[in-house]
Amino acid sequence: MKKIRKAVFPVAGLGTRFLPATKAMPKEMLTVVDKPVIQYIVDEAREAGIEHFIFVTGRNKGVIEDHFDIAYELEQTLKSRNKVAELAILDGQRLRPGAASFTRQQEPLGLGHAVWCARDLVGDEPFAVMLPDMIMKGVGKSCLAQMTEVYHETGGNVVAVEECAPELAHQYGIVGVGAHKGKAFEITSMVEKPKAGTAPSNLFINGRYILQPRIFELLASQEKGAGNEIQLTDSMLKLMGEDAFWGVKFEGKTYDCGSKVGFLAANVAYGLERTELTADFKAEIAAILKGH
Ligand code: G1P
Repeated sequence: MKKIRKAVFPVAGLGTRFLPATKAMPKEMLTVVDKPVIQYIVDEAREAGIEHFIFVTGRNKGVIEDHFDIAYELEQTLKSRNKVAELAILDGQRLRPGAASFTRQQEPLGLGHAVWCARDLVGDEPFAVMLPDMIMKGVGKSCLAQMTEVYHETGGNVVAVEECAPELAHQYGIVGVGAHKGKAFEITSMVEKPKAGTAPSNLFINGRYILQPRIFELLASQEKGAGNEIQLTDSMLKLMGEDAFWGVKFEGKTYDCGSKVGFLAANVAYGLERTELTADFKAEIAAILKGH
């Protein structure tokens, strides 16, 4: 079975929900404590053994490329001032030479189209897709690492799912499920943004995928689906007719940083986790809550 070496990060979205913050800055660069959101996702990929990082970007996203590059002048200045700790932080987050690729989605035609834009960079091997809005704090292992563990037993295609309130199902891709095999369960149906009362379950695709390269051929038809966009879910449904699809229930907590509440909650949760901040931050939060 082929190892999952490459991950695709569709980062072309406009981030209109966060205007004006995202007027001149990509939404993926919004900060949770002291790291941009995209850094959390890349760190999750690294933890799962990803070796090559493929960013599907758009206009005004150049700063993401800079973020993962060497910052020569900055690093020289830090060196001359003997700022060892800061240099170590930069060294740990940089992507190694040749380990990152960037391509542009020229038009906002949907998630399926964004993934298809990475076809030549992925080539003929299974790969991961990681949506950049979702920061996931896994129990024991990261979400993608939980999935690769299952993938090594099942092969095929794997998506991570979580439960949602039935009235929220219309916001997501929803799966129907069948028999279990260890930690995985067979996926029997899939629908993107189901109309009220039609969802096959309350399990939604949370933004982490392991897919076989055949998906690119299916995406090539560029058929539009929900919201008049080229949906990844629609091509996955076609692929399901040919190849096994497995679901893994993510063990952990997801922060949807595409929503303001999720983004703010991520800052609180990750801020409280920093031992150097915990005591002071807790006291500040308690004082704020008293006034509400
Ligand atoms: C996308 C996917 C959907 C998935 C969701 C998770 O939707 O199309 O299947 O459930 O991400 O956030 P979007 O949020 O882009 O509308």
